[in-house]
Amino acid sequence: MSIDYASKIPNNVDLGSNKTLQRALEHWQPAYLDWWREVGPEGSTDYDVYLRTAVSVDPKGWAHFDYVKMPDYRWGIFLTPPEKGRVHGFGAHKGQPVWNEVPGEYRTHLRRIIVTQGDTEPASVEQQRALGRTCPSLYDLRNLYQVNVEEGRHLWAMVYLLHAYFGRDGREEADEMLARRSGDADKPRILGAFNEKTSDWLSFFMFTFLTDRDGKYQLAALAESGFDPLARSTRFMLTEEAHHLFVGESGIGRILQRTAEVMRELATEDPDKLRAAGVIDIPTIQRYLNFHFSVTLDLYGSEISSNASTFFSNGLKGRFEETKLGDDHVLTSSAEYAVPFVEGGRIIEKAQSALLSLNERLRDDYIKDCQAGVDRWNKILERGGTSQRLRLAHKGFHRKIGNFAHSHVTPEGELVTEAEWKKRESSWLPTEADHAFLNTLMGRVAEPGKYANWIAPPARGIDQRPESFEYVRFA
Ligand SMILES: [Fe+2]
Ligand SMILES: [Fe+2]
Repeated sequence: MSIDYASKIPNNVDLGSNKTLQRALEHWQPAYLDWWREVGPEGSTDYDVYLRTAVSVDPKGWAHFDYVKMPDYRWGIFLTPPEKGRVHGFGAHKGQPVWNEVPGEYRTHLRRIIVTQGDTEPASVEQQRALGRTCPSLYDLRNLYQVNVEEGRHLWAMVYLLHAYFGRDGREEADEMLARRSGDADKPRILGAFNEKTSDWLSFFMFTFLTDRDGKYQLAALAESGFDPLARSTRFMLTEEAHHLFVGESGIGRILQRTAEVMRELATEDPDKLRAAGVIDIPTIQRYLNFHFSVTLDLYGSEISSNASTFFSNGLKGRFEETKLGDDHVLTSSAEYAVPFVEGGRIIEKAQSALLSLNERLRDDYIKDCQAGVDRWNKILERGGTSQRLRLAHKGFHRKIGNFAHSHVTPEGELVTEAEWKKRESSWLPTEADHAFLNTLMGRVAEPGKYANWIAPPARGIDQRPESFEYVRFA
């Protein structure tokens, strides 16, 4: 499973032995690069960026760090090695050998799953394209670019599957990936959260903490798939994804650390005074958390979903850590799961078919993981000597999809009237004034070892580099 770096498209799938496939992907490659130049990181073409590149799929040592100009990044196709004798771990085919080709009867479903996942990858690059202009440090700029090139590679991972296993319509889907644009009125990206703006670094860190974490949970569910090439692709993507989550969590952590410092210095919790001192007050951070959390919860889809049950029963998409779960992995008709409903003016939970509730289950697994991260943030606030804390909103808050879509739920989980909700909205979700304030903070800091006033330096450098390391060299 060593990676061939000599060919145009680095890969560990022996691409050279399938000339037709290789040619098709080499044909897609320049279109991908055009897309990168057009809507990838703004103005970055000539920068030398200290990036990691995958040189192996061995979990113990897969990355190599060096300066790279981003258009020359070696985007490639890397799958984890096949597991000998792997069998379906769930659903109707449980115990049977996994598939190495797409079963005809599941072709449409599988293609849809791969396209939906694939579409999110270029979308986030587009959403983040202007952030380089306002980076708070070279360290952060480098991390942004690392996330961007890896999202690009995730697109390659999905495009490989489309080209290799879906023939002509797979190739057409791969072309469409480069034609849609985040936020575009005519050709938007497929999922809502990937059409939102990421216009400042607070949003970027929230996005990587929350929305990349949705990516982790979707990928983890696909890593269980009985379609082995999909499982092996997503397993390696998960390895890269961990860094994206780190960027988000540590980014917000450093903001909190800095805000707490200034709160202590000035002995105040007053948002206006803190803003005047050039740091981000906790209520503003909470509003951004509420926004990104709620739009990301929608990505899991409706609580009750026959599609989700079909994907599971057919062995296409499992649950989070499927193999570690102690049930029958088939979810027969008696298995149940608690699902929230709004009924008679109250939020209640009702036991539903576990098979139909898989979206809700994955969403709940995700929420637990988010909560653990928020708890770690609150430790930073505690150590910083402030009594203010962040919290995750109720899962019914500000939802557009599913059982809460037509209700008005507060972050505390109370049902209120639309009028009441509207009246209080500006204390829950980022306002124009918040955006305007953040824009005043977002200036470019691009000197080695220097950091914007609103964020603390990281505890340690990337690849054990010192604080003054020049992570990005400008042309
Ligand atoms: Fe990704
Ligand atoms: Fe990611």
